[in-house]
Amino acid sequence: MHIENIVKKLNLNDGCIEGAAVKIRKLSELQECFADETAYAAALAEGDKVVYSVSSIEPGDNGGDLHFGLGMIMPGRIGDEYYLTKGHFHEKREAAEIYIGLKGKGAMLLEDELSGDSRTVEIKENTVIYVPGNTAHRTYNTGSEPVMYLGIYPADAGHDYEAIKCKNFNCVVTATEAGPEMKKRSDYQK
Ligand SMILES: [Fe+2]
Repeated sequence: MHIENIVKKLNLNDGCIEGAAVKIRKLSELQECFADETAYAAALAEGDKVVYSVSSIEPGDNGGDLHFGLGMIMPGRIGDEYYLTKGHFHEKREAAEIYIGLKGKGAMLLEDELSGDSRTVEIKENTVIYVPGNTAHRTYNTGSEPVMYLGIYPADAGHDYEAIKCKNFNCVVTATEAGPEMKKRSDYQK
């Protein structure tokens, strides 16, 4: 990166990094992500809403570079499951990532590929989450306004969406009267 380009401004009104490309994910692109297929079909029939966007800076990949992206998930639910990101492993499985919560309320679902263990952590303003390597990660909006966070990861980490597509996450994060709750996918679908 040229020295004059090393400072980037985050726009927390529209979820964009100044001058960066924005990738938008609509409901129709999230087939098989949500557990409740009937609720998904019904929601899609009402309109192909934007679920989330990622504005990314990817300066290069010389083995030492870092990439980063500003994620914004809209508020909403499919059945009881909150709006979510596709989620992924890193292609380079050992690559870790840092998430910094900036605005809104969310949850990250983390699943260890080796042990199969699942857990969730809260994402909110001024929170830093260290996502270890070999961990599938998916983010949910558990609030009523857009949730925003910055993800910073090694440039050579890569994104493996296919492994998630085949197997999906073991758990889901759903709305309950007591607040967001992680449940086994098989229990939620009963
Ligand atoms: Fe990641």
